[in-house]
Order: sequence, then structure tokens, then C-alpha cells
Amino acid sequence: MTKLIKLPGLIDTHVHLREPGATQKEDFETGTKAAIAGGYTLVLDMPNNPDPTISETAINEKITLAKNRIYSDLGFHLGVGSHLKGGKLNVDEFQDLKDRVFGLKVYMNHTTGPLLIEDNGELDLIFSNWPKDKILMVHAETETLAKAITLAKKHGNRLHVCHIARKIELELIIQAKSEGLPVTCEVAMHHLYFTHADEERLGHFAMMRPPLASQEDQDFLWANINSIDTIASDHAPHTREEKEGKKVVNGVPGLETTLPLLLQAVNDERITLQRVTEMTSDSPRKIFNIPEQTKLQTRDYLQNAAGRHLKG
Ligand code: DOR
Ligand code: ZN
Ligand code: ZN
Repeated sequence: MTKLIKLPGLIDTHVHLREPGATQKEDFETGTKAAIAGGYTLVLDMPNNPDPTISETAINEKITLAKNRIYSDLGFHLGVGSHLKGGKLNVDEFQDLKDRVFGLKVYMNHTTGPLLIEDNGELDLIFSNWPKDKILMVHAETETLAKAITLAKKHGNRLHVCHIARKIELELIIQAKSEGLPVTCEVAMHHLYFTHADEERLGHFAMMRPPLASQEDQDFLWANINSIDTIASDHAPHTREEKEGKKVVNGVPGLETTLPLLLQAVNDERITLQRVTEMTSDSPRKIFNIPEQTKLQTRDYLQNAAGRHLKG
């Protein structure tokens, strides 16, 4: 007997489609094809391109490049850095750019791409300037996560913590939520299915940021899955040659494997189907203020807010 499961089009709020600047790994066309193949109808692209997405010009370039080449809906996140204008952070442009993106991504640890903010004064400036009604996402591992939560508390930000991987990180988030802070978090599939015991077997293919964690960490994530708001792929492809090379390149693809693994988890009774729908559709929509993907709204979106250029 076959069982038919009906799901909404899934939303992945955390993908790296690599265009422009690294299209040997992925581009808007191949990335959104992978999204559709994996059950996603909307993906939100991260800003850590070689020339990072930290200006109006960079956002416009992504929109132009994606036009008529995408298979799923697509939106963008803004980055923050001082790669332009003689080393000045792009905080002055936050107000003008906020409605053209779904959120701001702050890289507080080193990873793929040039975006990294470690200076406390700069972080203070960023958290205080980003509009309080828009999501501020962080790549913040363990110690830096405590710092991010303190900053969000100080400045009143809506904080969304990307790819939590460790018990201590989820504990910090549970604590922040219990204080009533507007903090949400995401987990990536690889941290729910692999641990660092897999690194020996998989070599560089198991290298990503945050790195794989312990079995205890993973067990804690599964046991507290109801305290995690969203599941993202953190789809971050590299070429096979790059992965097999001497130099470590961090990141793994995930758009085509996340839903099958989630359905496996439902089958194994680790998570309910209703929770899967919440974490991959209802909650992303609510947290990132994403409208229903009806034809009418999609068209309105194209006309009114090019930056949120959902496909018509
Ligand atoms: O492993 C990762 N890869 N972690 C990140 O934070 C970035 C990503 C990428 O863009 O390759
Ligand atoms: Zn990250
Ligand atoms: Zn990422």
C-alpha cells in the first residue's frame, strides 16, 4: 500500500547559490533546479559571495543575473562588511536596503567568503543600526553566540541564529527564549545526521562551518527539536575537485537531500510530519515575513519590490 503525503512547497531560508563569483560550484539556474527537485519552492540566498552582497549595486546585480533563469522563487539576504568605500561598514545603507532583502546576515566567525566581523565596536554599530522590525541572522558558534545574544538583548534585535550544532548553543537559545527575547534558531540537516566520528571516513566532504559535533550534541538537538524553529539545508556546494584538493573548503550541498532525510526521520518517529511542515514552511514564513506564494502576490512582488524578486 502506498501512502500519499501532501506538503506545502518548502522554504529554505539559508542557501548559497554562488552567483556571482563562484559559478563553477553552482549558479542561480542549477541551484533553483536543485531546490525544485528537493521540494522547495522558495530559497533565500546568502551574501557571502567573493564580492559580497553588501550594496545596492550587488543586490541589483543578483536580480539581473537571476532574471528568467530561476526555477523556484528566490530572495536575498544582505551582508555587512567594510569592503567598499574605503573600509567603511555599510551600516548607513541599512534603511534604504532593508525592504529589498529578507534579513541581514552577520558573520561572527570565519567561514567561506570575505565577510567576517569580530570587532566589538563594529558589532555594536551593526546591531544598533539594523532596523528592529527585520531579522538579523548570525553565524555565531558557541562563545560568539553568547556575544550575539547579549548584543541583541542590548539593542532589541529580532535575532535568528543560523545552523546551531552544539548542545551549549541550543541551551543558550532556550535560556534566551525563556527570558522572552525574540530569538529564533535554525538547524541544518548535516548536524542532525553526522557527527565528527564521520570525519575520518568522509575527509574534506565532512568539512563545514560550524564543524560536525559530538553524538551528545546531536542527541540533544533531536531531543529538543521542538525548541528549534526552522530546518535549513545551508546548501553550500563546492566542486568535487575543490573538495578533493589539499586545501579544506567548508560547506556541503543539501537542497536535494534535506526533505528525504526529514521523511526518513518521520518514518523513524524522531519527528512528526506536522513539525516538519512547521519547520520548513510555517515558521520560515512567519520569522522572515514571507507572503503566501499565490500567483497574485508573486506578481505584486515583482512589481513592487524587485529585491524580493519572487519568480512570476
Ligand atoms: O560550511 C560553510 N560553508 N559554512 C558557512 O558558513 C558558509 C558556507 C559556504 O558558503 O561555503
Ligand atoms: Zn554560516
Ligand atoms: Zn551558510
